[in-house]
Amino acid sequence: MTTYRPSGIHACVFDAYGTLFDYASAAARCRDALGEKLEPLTALWREKQLQYTWLRALQGAHVDFWRVTGDALDFALETLAIGDRALRDRLMNLYLTLATFPEVPETLRRLRSAGIRTAILSNGSPAMLQAVVAATKLDAHLDAVLSVEEVGVYKPHPKVYQLAVDRLGVDAGAISFQSSNAWDAYAASAFGMRVVWCNRYGQRPERLPGQPDHEVRTLAELPAIVGA
Ligand code: LAC
Repeated sequence: MTTYRPSGIHACVFDAYGTLFDYASAAARCRDALGEKLEPLTALWREKQLQYTWLRALQGAHVDFWRVTGDALDFALETLAIGDRALRDRLMNLYLTLATFPEVPETLRRLRSAGIRTAILSNGSPAMLQAVVAATKLDAHLDAVLSVEEVGVYKPHPKVYQLAVDRLGVDAGAISFQSSNAWDAYAASAFGMRVVWCNRYGQRPERLPGQPDHEVRTLAELPAIVGA
């Protein structure tokens, strides 16, 4: 593989769920109650959550990500015949304290100590993002936490990627965007950002506009890539 070493990167912008924070950690902490339904619940909850963001964006019927996450959970629980309301509340609350992937704090620390700005750009509502960033102590390593609520539409609408350009005051081409969600990585590339696809889940390439510049399995490689 050729070595990807982009020059002139001033900011590293990250997707949140699946990229910095392990969304599967919410249901995993309820293994006792979910038993063999743990894996199907994790997959269906996430799949529905993303579908609802895309569909609502297309319909022009935006509600925030807390509501979408709850609606998706309700769909998944009903599909799997899990009627436990206390478990529903427990799962939602765990979304506010998701685990980070292990390499994340050190990666962000290294980027910032090299003078590269760091930010989250996420579908998450400001309250959800604030909670998980505080619980995981990532606030010390982030210059900005940007929510789609500022533009009122979900990824992959170009307005979302423009928000990072506007708020960071950095050209798209000077931003390295990282996402584990391939569709998000492709959309950021189509918008004009440099993109590292963090392919944690070993997925195949998308057939969508854009083309990530590089693919990694975890974020541990990122500081060396951007010269931090
Ligand atoms: C986010 C979702 C897409 O954080 O993971 O925006």
